[in-house]
Amino acid sequence: MPGTCVIGLQWGDEAKGKIVDLLTREHDFVVRYQGGANAGHTVVVDNQTYKLSLLPSGILTPGVTCVIASGVVLNPARVIEELDELAQRGAGNPENLRISDRAHVIFPWHFAEDRAFDKNTSDGENIGTTGRGIGPCYRDKVGRSHAVRLGDLYRSSIRQRIEHIVEAKNRSLAALYPAGEFQPLDASSIHKQYADYAERLRPHVCDTTELLLSAAEDGRRLLFEGAQGALLDVDHGTYPFVTSSNSSGVGISSGSGVPARFINRVLGVVKAYSTRVGGGPFPTELDNPTGQYLRDRGNEYGTVTRRPRRCGWLDVVAVRYTSRLSGVDAIAVMLLDVLSGLDEVKICTAYEIDGKRTMRFPSHVDDVRRVQPVYETLPGWKEEVTTCRSFEALPPNAQAYLRRVSELIGRPIQMVSVGPDREQSILISKS
Ligand code: GDP
Ligand code: IMO
Ligand code: MG
Repeated sequence: MPGTCVIGLQWGDEAKGKIVDLLTREHDFVVRYQGGANAGHTVVVDNQTYKLSLLPSGILTPGVTCVIASGVVLNPARVIEELDELAQRGAGNPENLRISDRAHVIFPWHFAEDRAFDKNTSDGENIGTTGRGIGPCYRDKVGRSHAVRLGDLYRSSIRQRIEHIVEAKNRSLAALYPAGEFQPLDASSIHKQYADYAERLRPHVCDTTELLLSAAEDGRRLLFEGAQGALLDVDHGTYPFVTSSNSSGVGISSGSGVPARFINRVLGVVKAYSTRVGGGPFPTELDNPTGQYLRDRGNEYGTVTRRPRRCGWLDVVAVRYTSRLSGVDAIAVMLLDVLSGLDEVKICTAYEIDGKRTMRFPSHVDDVRRVQPVYETLPGWKEEVTTCRSFEALPPNAQAYLRRVSELIGRPIQMVSVGPDREQSILISKS
């Protein structure tokens, strides 16, 4: 049975890129199936750091087919930039890239709409999007009348379609911006620019749904690379402070076209603590020197926007929920090294709301805002762990922390990461 999935179980940036890169060698295909250039996945190989937004993290491994499937919202300029950057560095295997002709395309109006709509109108707190046009492109996809899929760029009707959309968007955008602040878009230059992008990407574009279905039916090994994290899932996350796709495990089939029966293993990726970028509730947030300690040691600044990430203790109520939601079989605990040096480490094991203790992750954002985290405190460890290569080599208190995390989440730990490099990984065999 061929399918493995890597899903972030928090608010993104759990180090999914590192895990995908590590697992790529055991697979024939690596598939991005949702999100877009809001993602920033880091892969470190031989002291070289690669930041990938749209290219699957398998792109650095020869012999693997990398697929951007239909559920991704595609910024063609960004894909071309990433391909050019890899070519300049003499890295990657772009000849193995396949991009779905069904993927929806991001246009300049989506960026303008993203800036205008970033406010969550219910209470004024900004969603704090990455500004990459993600929400507006998904909105047009669902709305249908103003959407363009990659395959449309190769049709003779595209010029007329872009003219029609630009006319409508110029009217709606002018109304969204204060007078004089919005520069009308020019259909003919956008058409020309996107025709150039289409020509450049032509060798990669195909029907990836058919490609992946055939691969799955032939028993080829597929690795699905989730973007964002399950708490940012549009249906099951901390709505409206979410992204616009199904970033938990529930999105794999819809985004890739591969039925669930071909997916036999889901690996949940968990940071050893919590981070969040942008707005929205974060029960275990530490707005204090400990939070700053985590930010400094974890270099917690956004890969895409460089915004400082909000930091806090591990929240097991949230991660237990997202493990169940994503059908997680085992977890990978990442950035364990960041916790070294603390006198004590805390795990949020329950929430208190209206005087009652609960393990349920609330469905309404206002309730997530109101919960009080209940903490279990464990002794910390002073030793650096970045050179540890086995579970037994970790300090006893770090081992105890991991055992407790696994027990509370209710899933075995398959891997522990103690640094960004491929080598800084501890594989835990099933016992
Ligand atoms: P992703 O979006 O889930 O792929 O994660 P990001 O790439 O946005 O953020 C993870 C960051 O942590 C990257 O800079 C990685 O190089 C880095 N990283 C990955 N694993 C480890 C680890 O075990 N320890 C430390 N200190 N950094 C790590
Ligand atoms: P990776 O794949 C962390 C967050 C944004 C914002 C919200 C909505 O690297 O883990 P969007 O631009 O998607 O409309 O923004 O989602 N967000 C991420 N946070 N990691 C990501 O991706 C993210 N992608 C989006 O900060 O709060
Ligand atoms: Mg990231």
